[in-house]
Amino acid sequence: MSVSSISPPPTGDELPVWLQPRIPAGFAPPPHPIRLCCIMQKGGSGKSTAAVCLACEFALMGKRVRVWDVDAQLGGATHWLAPLTEDRRGEPPNLLDMLKGEASPDEVTYPTQVPGLYVVPSYTSLKQVELESSPGLENGIEWGIDNTSEPFDVEIADCGPSLGRLTIASLVGMPNVIIPLKASGFDLNALTELNRTLDLTQRRVKPELAVTAVLLSEVLKSNLTQAVFDAMCADYPNALVMGIRQSVKVREASLDSIRKPLHVYAPDATVRTDFQYLARMLARQAAA
Ligand SMILES: Nc1ncnc2c1ncn2[C@@H]1O[C@H](COP(=O)(O)OP(=O)(O)OP(=O)(O)O)[C@@H](O)[C@H]1O
Ligand SMILES: [Mg+2]
Repeated sequence: MSVSSISPPPTGDELPVWLQPRIPAGFAPPPHPIRLCCIMQKGGSGKSTAAVCLACEFALMGKRVRVWDVDAQLGGATHWLAPLTEDRRGEPPNLLDMLKGEASPDEVTYPTQVPGLYVVPSYTSLKQVELESSPGLENGIEWGIDNTSEPFDVEIADCGPSLGRLTIASLVGMPNVIIPLKASGFDLNALTELNRTLDLTQRRVKPELAVTAVLLSEVLKSNLTQAVFDAMCADYPNALVMGIRQSVKVREASLDSIRKPLHVYAPDATVRTDFQYLARMLARQAAA
C-alpha cells in the first residue's frame, strides 16, 4: 500500500511542540486486522502500560480488541485488565492452557470491564512452557489468533522482559512491533540484542515483521530526551517515534487498591492524549 493511498494522519496539534512525533515518509500503518507486539527486554520500560492504554483507546474508538498477556511475571496486562470470569478457583483457563493444547483460543479469551476489550490472561505458571520442550511454541499464538471464532480488529501482545520463545511466539503472531523504552543508557544498550532478535525473526520466520513505532516512555523535556529521540529516528527510519509523557495517574491506576484502566481512573490524564494520538495513527487505513 502506498503512503499516498491512506487517510491523512492526525495533526498532532494536541501534543506540545517539544513532543512532536516523527512521522517518516516511509511510515506505513499496520495492515488490518492490526497485530501489535509491545516488546523490549529491559524491565520496566513501559510495555504493559503501552499495551493496555493503547488497547483501551482502540476499544473506545469502537474496535474489538484483545490483549495477550505473554509475561509470566505478575503485574502485566492481566493485573490491569482482570478477566471477567465466573471461575473463582484460582487461575482460570489461560494462555498456558492454550499453548499446551488443553484449551481453545475462545476458552482463554475473557471480556474485561472495558466494553470491546478482551484479555488472554497469564500467570506465573506460564514460565513452564519455556522450560519444557513445548513443540511448536513459536507458532502457538499465531495459531490462536487464526483459530478464534470471532476475529478481533486489534490484537496486542504484552511481552515479558526477555527474548525467549514466548516473545518469538508473540512476534510471529503480531509482527508489527512497538518498542517502548526509557531515555537511559541501560535501555539503549538493550536495543542491540533486541535488534538482533527482530532481524533474525524477520529473515528466518516472519518477513512482514516491521518496527512500527518507538515510544519514549515517561519522557521529560531534556537534552537527553532530544538526543535519544534523534538516535531512534536514525536507527528506525520507517517507524513513528514519539514520547509518552510521565503521569502519576498511570502509577496510581495500577496500584492493587485501584487497578483500573487509565481512562476509567483518570479520564482527563494528559498522557491519554499521547495514547489517543498513537491509536489514531495506527488505525489509519486505505482510503475507500
Ligand atoms: N507514562 C508513565 N508515567 C508514569 N509512570 C509510568 C508510565 N509508564 C509506565 N509507568 C510506570 O513504570 C513502571 C513500569 O511500567 P510497565 O509495567 O508498563 O513496564 P514493563 O516494560 O511492562 O515492565 P516489565 O518489563 O516488568 O513487564 C510501572 O510502575 C508503571 O506504572
Ligand atoms: Mg510488563
